[in-house]
Amino acid sequence: MKLLGRAAFIPLIVVALGFAVPVWAHKPTVTTFTYNKDIHPIFDAKCGSCHRSGGVAPMSLLTYREAFPWAVSIKNEVLNLAMPPWFVDERVGAFKHRGALSAKEMDTIVDWCLGGSPEGDPATSPPSPLSDDADSWPLGSPDLELAMPFAFELDADSSEAVEELVLATGLGADRTLRAIDFKPGSANIVRSATMTLGDGSEPLATWVPGQAPQVFPSGIGWRVPAGAEIRLRLHYKKTWLDEGSAVTDQSTLALYFHESDAVKLVTTLSVKVGSPHTMGKDAELVALVPELETPVDAFSADLVLPDGSREALIRLYQPSPDWPRKYWLAEPVRLPSGSRVEVRVTASEPATPAMLLDIVSR
Ligand code: HEC
Repeated sequence: MKLLGRAAFIPLIVVALGFAVPVWAHKPTVTTFTYNKDIHPIFDAKCGSCHRSGGVAPMSLLTYREAFPWAVSIKNEVLNLAMPPWFVDERVGAFKHRGALSAKEMDTIVDWCLGGSPEGDPATSPPSPLSDDADSWPLGSPDLELAMPFAFELDADSSEAVEELVLATGLGADRTLRAIDFKPGSANIVRSATMTLGDGSEPLATWVPGQAPQVFPSGIGWRVPAGAEIRLRLHYKKTWLDEGSAVTDQSTLALYFHESDAVKLVTTLSVKVGSPHTMGKDAELVALVPELETPVDAFSADLVLPDGSREALIRLYQPSPDWPRKYWLAEPVRLPSGSRVEVRVTASEPATPAMLLDIVSR
């Protein structure tokens, strides 16, 4: 028995050494999907803003060699809706800047991860469309560009920091914000940014890597008073590649204003768990911002119409304060006078998060 076992084993080793076949080549391939043809385009579009060399994620997924060892972990993260960090239950609402995988993309990834993760023909992999055109703003030259007045240093001994600073707009007159954009100084450490007006209770916009410029729907804007200050909250975190070395960042934000003041102004409504808000007059909902202090299992907002019928506005699955987001509705949603906004949370630890609603009176 012993001899037979050894005899069967030796030829295998010989084959492996003889052709320098990597160990994983013996994993049976039972998927028709390959990295180069099917997976790379998805990773490029949905993961590459963070998982590329020089990004905030600990590993790039943009080449087969980098992605392959992560197959099991990728399958788990994708099935748990943990990656990409978007958290929205797709059955509810329609949002701009959607970061989720489609069901088909998810199927393709999981099939590839479980089916032996073949590489495929490099010639079938389209070139990465991701370009880091660091000098240009997609919306064109901003009306007001605000850079951090100093470079923040994440020193050699620190791996993470939250930095809050105030940027003076220096505006001589009230203006109405049409769009906002953000550019990290050092893309390898800026995890997220939150931009708020005044005392910090009115989030203008949030940013995580890959976030496109945020534009208000036409005819709608945010009043930025003369002399206003914008509070910028930055979450810095190093990957293991930068452990032990200091990294500095000087990020910039871009503001675009409406030409005329003839726009409807946005205001923020904060709704806490257990304290529903009844609408005093007709309004439209433009965006939602979960305000979380700790990760929770689920967080949602519902609209209860005057006739008692209920409509979900947003449902978030395991959202985390690590990935702050403003969820911009694809189309504004009507909040009729007399309707009620309710917020619900499911969490293992006590949590009282709030949902902030960007609304416009009709
Ligand atoms: C907005 C940035 C971002 C996007 C987009 C993103 N990731 Fe991640 N991912 C991260 C960061 C950062 C980590 C490191 C874990 C952490 O610190 O939260 C991570 C961790 C992971 C991990 C490792 C978890 C572990 O085992 O440690 C996997 C696997 C992963 N991501 C897969 C993906 C895939 C697949 C996609 C696209 C479908 C994706 N990610 C999109 C930022 C991102």
